[in-house]
Order: sequence, then structure tokens, then C-alpha cells
Amino acid sequence: MKQRVVLSVWHKWLALLVAIQVVIWLGTGLYFNVTEGQGDTARQVRQTVHHVGDVGSVSLLPLRQLAAPAPLKAELIWSLGKPYYVLWYNQPAHRYFPLERRVYDAQTGQPWQIGLQQVASVAQRAYRSDKQTASNTVMSAPVLITPPIDDLNNQQNPLWRVNVNDALNTSIYLDALTGHVVTFVNDDSRFRALMFTLHFMDYAGTGSFNNSIIIVFAVLTGMLSLSGAYLLFHTHAVARPLNEFEPHTNTQLTIRDKHSHTHSLCLSEHAGDNLYFALLANDISLPSECQGAGTCGKCKIVTNASMPVTPVETAHLSTQAIADGIRLACQHPARQFSEITIPVALPTSRSDQ
Ligand code: FES
Repeated sequence: MKQRVVLSVWHKWLALLVAIQVVIWLGTGLYFNVTEGQGDTARQVRQTVHHVGDVGSVSLLPLRQLAAPAPLKAELIWSLGKPYYVLWYNQPAHRYFPLERRVYDAQTGQPWQIGLQQVASVAQRAYRSDKQTASNTVMSAPVLITPPIDDLNNQQNPLWRVNVNDALNTSIYLDALTGHVVTFVNDDSRFRALMFTLHFMDYAGTGSFNNSIIIVFAVLTGMLSLSGAYLLFHTHAVARPLNEFEPHTNTQLTIRDKHSHTHSLCLSEHAGDNLYFALLANDISLPSECQGAGTCGKCKIVTNASMPVTPVETAHLSTQAIADGIRLACQHPARQFSEITIPVALPTSRSDQ
């Protein structure tokens, strides 16, 4: 019985936790439905930067002449009209995983990394501003930032960031080595990212819906279902129907209600029926949150009958309350009582005086 009380408390807290997340799912799901098809406003101010220069006039140094360790792969890229070799020393599944690369000038063979001014130039070219706002648009100086990056939770590589003073506070993120645009972020996409975080419970910022918090939550939801099924089974399937196969007894009971009205009742109870259910069968409903399951401690009555104190009563009633004759109706067979006081009014049809 004591375990059922503990289980009931856990069940309620789990239910609260699950209910909060369900409300979040409903709210964020509704947001995704309503905003679907509205387009990404961060993309609307982004335009392609043409880096490729005059290919015909450039003579490239052969790759094998680079003074660099052998890479897994090599690629030729262009940045603001000049060619560069990017040597890859790992091949992660996603570009936001740590990248091990080196960049060399493809004409001189010298190690290279894009500079501040070139980054600013790429950002200027990548940002599309309309004629009315172009003169008012100001960009911040590029800043090289290292993870964690607030706007890009899952990014594990350093990036250049250039902020634009437009209406949606656009930030332009560029590759730390090559200066190529990685992404645009603005207030709309930040809010959308927040909705994704809430919807997928990605509170640790892993960038994946298959994260450990959601797995733990799924287990907790399973426990909520199982504990609910267990409590339901013991409240209704076990407590009530099994008793119905047992013989009837009649109990003569005098009930005094909160208005001091009294009523004599001949309770026709099944053997083993507790007082809570016996009263309920006679239209007298005591306060309860567990419907007689013995977990809420609400079904209090006052009696002078003497009977053993159950663990549920110990858990919910003080020693003084028990000494004052307060007991829980669902804890004792109805036949153990001859006179009780209840904290609710008797139904009018039951009140004798
Ligand atoms: S403890 Fe809930 S009805 Fe008795």
C-alpha cells in the first residue's frame, strides 16, 4: 500500500512534466504549421558571391609541389578572384563537425588564410540590400569567433561573423579559413531555431532530435503510462470487481454530516468493500482525488471506532488527527463502523433531521 502512495506521487509529478512538454509540442507544432511556406527571410537578403577569377590567365602550382602532409582529399577553390588549394585531413559527416584543413595559395604554394578586409568584402557582396535601405545599411567589422556560437548551436568550427544593422539584425557567418559564406541568421531564423529547440527538446544544443534528453523523456513517458495503468488496475479492476463476487453483508450505520444532520443507513456492502465505496454506492461522495485507491489521503471521516492504523493513514494523517478519531474511509471495511461524521453534506434525500 505504501508503495502505491509513493508511486502515485511519482505518477503525478511525471504527469506534470509530460503535460508541460505536450503543451510545448502543441504550441511549437502550431507555429510550424502556421509559418510553413512563408520562406526564410535570412535567405532573402543573401546573394551568390562570384569568387572565380580569370581562369585562363592563372597558372596553378602542381599540388604535389605543396610543402604539406598528404591529405585525404584536396580541392581547388576561389576566393575573390584568386585560386587556393584546400587540403582536407578528415572527412566528417557534417560540415559543422570539426574540420581539419589547410589552405594554400594555388599560385605561390604559400599557406593562406583569409584576412579581415577580404572577409568584409565578401560579406558586402553576399548581402542583398534594396535601393531604399542600401545607404543606411551598416556592417560591423568581421570578428573571428570560436564555438560555442549562440546562433549556431551545433557549429564546432571557428567562423567569421559580420553583423548588419537591418530590421532583422542579420548576422553573416563565413568560413574562418576561406571566407566563403556559411549561413545568414536573423531574428526570424533565431526564433525558428528556438521553436526547434523546444519542439525537439534539444536543450543541450546538439542540433539533433535524437538527443539524450528526448530519450530520457521517452522513458519517463513510458513509466508514466505503466504507473498509470498499474494504479488504474488497482483502483478499479482489482479493488471493485473482485469484491463483487464476495457475499453481501448489511451494516447499520449512523452518519452525521457537516451540518450536524444525521441519517441511519443500512449499507448493503460486499465483504471487503471499504467504507468509501459503500458510501459511494449510497450516493454519499467523500472528498477524494484517487477515487478510493488509497493514495490521496482526502477521504477523511471521524469515528470513535477502534481499528488498526494503516500505512496510508500513517502517511497522510498526523498522530494527533488519528488520536482525534480521524480516519480514511477507503482504508477500512464499512462493517467496522457504527457511527461516523463526514465533512460533506448528506444528500437531501438522505438527511433524517
Ligand atoms: S485516500 Fe484517496 S479516497 Fe481514500
